[in-house]
Amino acid sequence: MDSQVPRHIGIIMDGNGRWARRQGRPVSFGHRAGVRAIKRVLQACEDHGVHALSIYAFSTENWARPRAEVRALMRLFHETMQREIDEMHQRGVRIVVSGRREELSQRMRERIEEAMARTASNKNGVLNVCLNYGGRAEIVDAARRLIRDGVAPAEVDEASLSQRMYQPDLPDPDLIIRTAGEHRVSNFLLWQGAYAEMLVSETLWPDFGEDDLKAALADYASRVRRFGGRPSAEVVAS
Ligand code: IPE
Ligand code: IPE
Ligand code: MG
Repeated sequence: MDSQVPRHIGIIMDGNGRWARRQGRPVSFGHRAGVRAIKRVLQACEDHGVHALSIYAFSTENWARPRAEVRALMRLFHETMQREIDEMHQRGVRIVVSGRREELSQRMRERIEEAMARTASNKNGVLNVCLNYGGRAEIVDAARRLIRDGVAPAEVDEASLSQRMYQPDLPDPDLIIRTAGEHRVSNFLLWQGAYAEMLVSETLWPDFGEDDLKAALADYASRVRRFGGRPSAEVVAS
């Protein structure tokens, strides 16, 4: 396996609102264009050997947006999942959804469960849709599971917590991309992203495409990951 290619990329898809505003269109127009960008980038990940893609679709804080926007977003997620599931399944993509599903509507939960069950044994790649997702909420939920499982304090360690995160089978993200130029994490993959390489792209999410992904992959390939250690090339005799 080429270690220069990230196995798992996380994307904070930002800039839909700005993209729409620039064209004098409603924000929902930007969110629709954002869905088309997801399709392009998922295909590009497949073409470039990236196994897993986590996309930040809706944060636990996004409920604070205007009611009409939240409603339009939920409708869009539901409709997209329904429309795209066949193609995803044919392409062998496993779909997983991370977040507090119990706070979503009944019909959204049914869609999600159906998509996850149908694609559960697919092996060509993983699309992790982070929906009503918060990194803090995920850690809280993992702590609740530890307590529910009766884990003794001495047994609480990074491994026992990691096992109780939403997607314990996914490797940690190697690269986290944020679009639209903002330099912040906004509660995305706080636990798993501890040593992720960060990349901020100025491109607004609806304009993001294969060329942007290729540029991100090239940038990633030039990074030296240290994980707190010292790369062997730097070790000098003392
Ligand atoms: C990201 O685009 C999509 C979601 C948060 C669902 P925004 O809607 O945040 O776009 P800006 O930041 O207003 O441009
Ligand atoms: C982060 O974007 C959440 C998603 C991409 C779903 P936001 O637009 O909500 O983040 P802030 O508010 O700019 O930090
Ligand atoms: Mg934003």
